[in-house]
Amino acid sequence: MKNKTLVISGATKGIGKAIVYEFAAQGVNVAFTYNSNEAAAKEIADDVEKKFGVKARYYPLNVLEPEEYKAVFEKIDEDFDRVDYFISNAMIYGRPVVGGFGKFMRLKPRGLNNIYTATVNAFVLGAQEAAKRMEKVGGGSIISMSSTGNVTYIPNYAGHGTNKAAVEAMVRYAAMELGEKNIRVNAVSGGPIDTDALKAFVNYDEVKEKTIELSPLHRIGQPEDIAGACLFVCSDKASWMTGQTLTIEGGTTFNTK
Ligand SMILES: NC(=O)c1ccc[n+]([C@@H]2O[C@H](COP(=O)([O-])OP(=O)(O)OC[C@H]3O[C@@H](n4cnc5c(N)ncnc54)[C@H](OP(=O)(O)O)[C@@H]3O)[C@@H](O)[C@H]2O)c1
Repeated sequence: MKNKTLVISGATKGIGKAIVYEFAAQGVNVAFTYNSNEAAAKEIADDVEKKFGVKARYYPLNVLEPEEYKAVFEKIDEDFDRVDYFISNAMIYGRPVVGGFGKFMRLKPRGLNNIYTATVNAFVLGAQEAAKRMEKVGGGSIISMSSTGNVTYIPNYAGHGTNKAAVEAMVRYAAMELGEKNIRVNAVSGGPIDTDALKAFVNYDEVKEKTIELSPLHRIGQPEDIAGACLFVCSDKASWMTGQTLTIEGGTTFNTK
């Protein structure tokens, strides 16, 4: 994977940041996006360049305006000569998800639509731009981040869960149509992972405790658990894997205790 290029959205912290480190450690150059935290993006880029001797650049992107991807990729073209991997990872929280994150009877179109835009539209527009570049280098691997909240109940997660289900379906469609270009498209779905996004849940302590109880490994997931799965899916070791969802959930979903 050395000297190839990863493009990933939302890598200032949590899962995205862990993925940047995982790929950079393999000699992969990284182009990643931030939304509000430019200082963190700079620190990460400087650190991975120093630690791993790869090229790292960061770009602003708001996934609520997914058309911005076009300009982001044009800037990436100036800094990198190829794109091999794309991971749609960024997720919105706070005010834009009001009416989308909550109990079923409190759901509202605006919040739900925002989550659709940030989850499905952002995946589509980012993957389209990435695929155009991958075609030029003979193929590539695209991943959408997903979550087990689309198949198992998480309180208040209806908006996110339904849109993760939608993006997994979109992944299968993209896989069918991009296969002839040697581009593989998959989802990596996580159970609860200890990041700021999870800490934003009102019932974070309860979710964490329950996850530790349900997992036969007796711990909550860490960002690195997901990063390793993404590295595998992008690597040649997964060369006949496409249109799939790889689920990393610490064994929690089989346990109905
Ligand atoms: N945590 C979990 O339990 C879990 C489980 C399964 C799947 N996932 C999925 O994994 C992905 C990453 O989640 P995470 O837990 O690592 O989240 P996180 O730690 O909260 O990080 C979110 C990232 O998204 C960026 N972001 C926020 N608003 C944005 C916007 N409007 N436009 C563009 N970027 C924006 C943030 O950038 P700034 O810091 O610059 O604002 C940050 O880099 C998401 O797709 C999530 O659904 C998470």
